[in-house]
Amino acid sequence: MDLPKRRLVIVSNRLPIVLEKNAEGWSVTQGSGGLVTALAPVLRNRGGLWIGWPGSSEDNLEEPLAVAAKETGYNLLPVFLSNYEMEKYYHGFSNEILWPLFHDLQSRCKFDPEYWQIYQQVNKKFAETILQNTQKDDYVWIHDYHLMYVAAELHNLKSDLTVGFFLHIPFPPPDIFVKLPWRSELLHALLEYDLIGFQTLRDRRNFIQCVRTLIGGTHIQGKGQVVTIQMRERVIKVGSFPISIDYKNFEQQTETKEVADSAWYIHENLGERKIILGIDRLDYTKGILERLKAFEKALIKYPDLHGEVAFIQIVVPSRENIDEYQVLRTEIEQMVGNINGRFTKYGWVPIHYIFRSLDKYELHGYYRTAEIALITPLKDGMNLVAKEYCACSVEENGVIILSEFAGASAQMHTGAIMVNPYDVESIADALYQAFTMPRDERRVRMHKLRQSIKKADIFWWVDSFIQAAFTEKLYSFPVLEDYDYSAQVADRSSVKF
Ligand code: UDP
Ligand code: G6P
Repeated sequence: MDLPKRRLVIVSNRLPIVLEKNAEGWSVTQGSGGLVTALAPVLRNRGGLWIGWPGSSEDNLEEPLAVAAKETGYNLLPVFLSNYEMEKYYHGFSNEILWPLFHDLQSRCKFDPEYWQIYQQVNKKFAETILQNTQKDDYVWIHDYHLMYVAAELHNLKSDLTVGFFLHIPFPPPDIFVKLPWRSELLHALLEYDLIGFQTLRDRRNFIQCVRTLIGGTHIQGKGQVVTIQMRERVIKVGSFPISIDYKNFEQQTETKEVADSAWYIHENLGERKIILGIDRLDYTKGILERLKAFEKALIKYPDLHGEVAFIQIVVPSRENIDEYQVLRTEIEQMVGNINGRFTKYGWVPIHYIFRSLDKYELHGYYRTAEIALITPLKDGMNLVAKEYCACSVEENGVIILSEFAGASAQMHTGAIMVNPYDVESIADALYQAFTMPRDERRVRMHKLRQSIKKADIFWWVDSFIQAAFTEKLYSFPVLEDYDYSAQVADRSSVKF
């Protein structure tokens, strides 16, 4: 079937809008993330539909959703969930089992059988909504770990829709995945999709190894971006599609006067000091505590950093109903207090800590003006902050220190200083290397990164997934490689450019 004739239906846990109730009724804000930006034109061109939870348990949302749909140019269909369902499916199974397990942190999992039951129930609700609002020719593209079981429920409902799935978070290796009490059910459910997309080759390899370990009678064929799994009469495509950002938009925004002003204000009070920037959602996978320890280590080991750097750590509130996130916030704030208490001297505070989300001018301003980005997740599907920082580093002056365990490492290791986020000593050394890096080396590294991200932007990502869904042809893939741990530079002073 010809792709242009088919309607695209996107399904995700949240709808791409924010609804807020105020004195006059509902206000609607459009989602601004890269995924929404990239999918919007495709959805508009095909009269598409986006299905998801509207962010409220109230069910009188027809009017605000109709208003929002007029603005977006495609339809928005809510799946209403009770507080109980949100508690067990979203906070519970999604964020207290799948999230930690898939980030290799199985000791944080709460394997509650009720979570699993309600996860299936909610996935079924999504499947029913999809089936009631689609036709056979529609292409359904489901997103992320909240909805891994939808294809199994569609199968139970005897659907004959073509359905693709993209996992935005990592997929764990078999030794970790087998800890999941419902491992076989979940893996079989994933194999009900027609195309399964992962962020990196490593994630895809982990998935295939899990299939080989847990499911008999499968046959894997092909190599390159998309391979196939043959299972009885079904053929499932499995690919690696590293997600990206709207590069041009970030670059253009950064060059506006508002952002230039914001960047100027940020640096104004810090004088000649170099800014080290951390921006993360509050999450234990982001390695914020280890990063703070590494910064402290750098201050101990390299006293010439005193008074010469300012570490700005921005933490965006997230998943506040989950206890672990509240505990983490307290731990971060205590550690910031301890480090500042120990090192602050007249006229210099080492860490500037911000706990809130930023508006886009501030965000772009920080990206543009910070000399060093310190991005050290313990594990991350991709890490878009890393790519956004490069797109906004329009003077090609910034240095990025990046975790080997971020999905972005496969593409960005050629220009970033790579670190093991658990190795506090090596992050401290990397900080010093970045602090003392000559201008020419900074420019060469950042230029490489920017070129690579520009080429493989979010529009390229959408195209490559859709091409894989509809054609046999392999899409050209400039960043298809694996991060090579053995290439990590042992002696930082020997980096050659
Ligand atoms: N971000 C945001 N508000 C902020 C700071 C950052 O919305 O105050 C955005 C940032 O631009 C990026 C996203 O949050 O697009 C974070 O994505 P990432 O892949 O780095 O991590 P995630 O939060 O998805 O785990
Ligand atoms: C990650 C997940 C997304 C999720 C986001 C924010 O990026 O891959 O699916 O939307 O975190 O988390 P939240 O729980 O607030 O949706």
